[in-house]
Amino acid sequence: MYTNVDLQNKARYSQPVALSKTAIETATEYALSRIEKAVDKFGDQMCVPARGWYPGSDTGFSRNRYVPTERVTWTTGMWTGLCWLAYQLSGKEKFKEVAESHLKHYIKASQHPEGLDDHDTGFKFSPSCVAQYKMTGNKEARAAALEAARIQLEHYCPVNKFIIREGTNRPGDRPSKYRTLVDTMLNIPLFFWAYEETGDKAYYDAAVGHYRTTAKYLVREDGSSYHHYQFNPTTYEPEYGVTHQGNRNESCWTRGHSWLVYGYPVAYKYTKDAEIFDIHKAVSYYFMDHLPSDGVPYWDFDFTDGSLEARDSSASAVVACGLMEMCKYLPDTAEQKKYYQNAADLMLKALIEKCVPTEPDSDSLLTFVTGSVPHCEAINHCETYGDLFYFEALARKVKPDIEIFW
Ligand code: GLY
Repeated sequence: MYTNVDLQNKARYSQPVALSKTAIETATEYALSRIEKAVDKFGDQMCVPARGWYPGSDTGFSRNRYVPTERVTWTTGMWTGLCWLAYQLSGKEKFKEVAESHLKHYIKASQHPEGLDDHDTGFKFSPSCVAQYKMTGNKEARAAALEAARIQLEHYCPVNKFIIREGTNRPGDRPSKYRTLVDTMLNIPLFFWAYEETGDKAYYDAAVGHYRTTAKYLVREDGSSYHHYQFNPTTYEPEYGVTHQGNRNESCWTRGHSWLVYGYPVAYKYTKDAEIFDIHKAVSYYFMDHLPSDGVPYWDFDFTDGSLEARDSSASAVVACGLMEMCKYLPDTAEQKKYYQNAADLMLKALIEKCVPTEPDSDSLLTFVTGSVPHCEAINHCETYGDLFYFEALARKVKPDIEIFW
């Protein structure tokens, strides 16, 4: 499968991109100054799911400044992860202190499984507690992340081998909870990490089962993807592809697709499963071939050059990281390696030149991020995940051996 998928626009990705070292360093310094502003404003505040507040997305009326929010979402870990990356790159204690001050909130969250009743637990705990443990060896951070992994494992369905969208397919749950979705591909690194820490193979098997099921049902033959795939909660039979945040069931939701482009290289890192190369090539080439000419994707691949629809720059930030990650494992003889390197630079250059907020008092790093158009959530705004993956892409260029938390 996928062996027929080829890059259509080879000419676009054949030549190195004019992205200078100085441009990257300047963008990184600027981004660090914005993170510092956010750190000064939000400090140890965190909401996972303890009451509190942290950088929220509603920047539309506040000129790309975060407003405090109490909304508990999958984005909480991104804020802490941003502080850890900033610390790693700059060595400034201030970033470390703020990231460490969040730990108490994650410990509390790990003691309340009812607040972690979905597929997104890895997004909360990998960039926060796993990061802290990797960076400092903190045992409480390790324990909280392992407890979160244990809770997430309860959402794995051994019959169909996927992490359930919400709940654990309990009698009486809404049928639409018994689905798998592309977003989860960057949540399974929590399982790989838990396996490395505990030796419990159940985590490894669940992560492998999940990425194989994802490839089987969510990735289409042309390399595009469904957002969700519905299974029958009583008979367990596969039913149909469906969207939640995309434009229509048969379209390809851009940020959802980006989780595949990054999730598969991370799965490769842990498994060295050669099957992953072709799946990854198919989903990456689809993204690259559908990228608008200015290098900033629209929120759904139904839209392209000339459309007035919203952008989602967070998707190309995630993809740039995913392509750079895969390049670590590809031999120089692999045809796709050159295309991936050039595509990552092209997307990063477009983010630096077109998507960095210019307001002097902004405390966010990246604008033109879109949460969910069908839900009227955060359209062309800033979000902590846009910031994190943009900063991670920069950090990968500045310090190629940077410790990645996935
Ligand atoms: N739940 C992840 C996303 O909205 O991209």
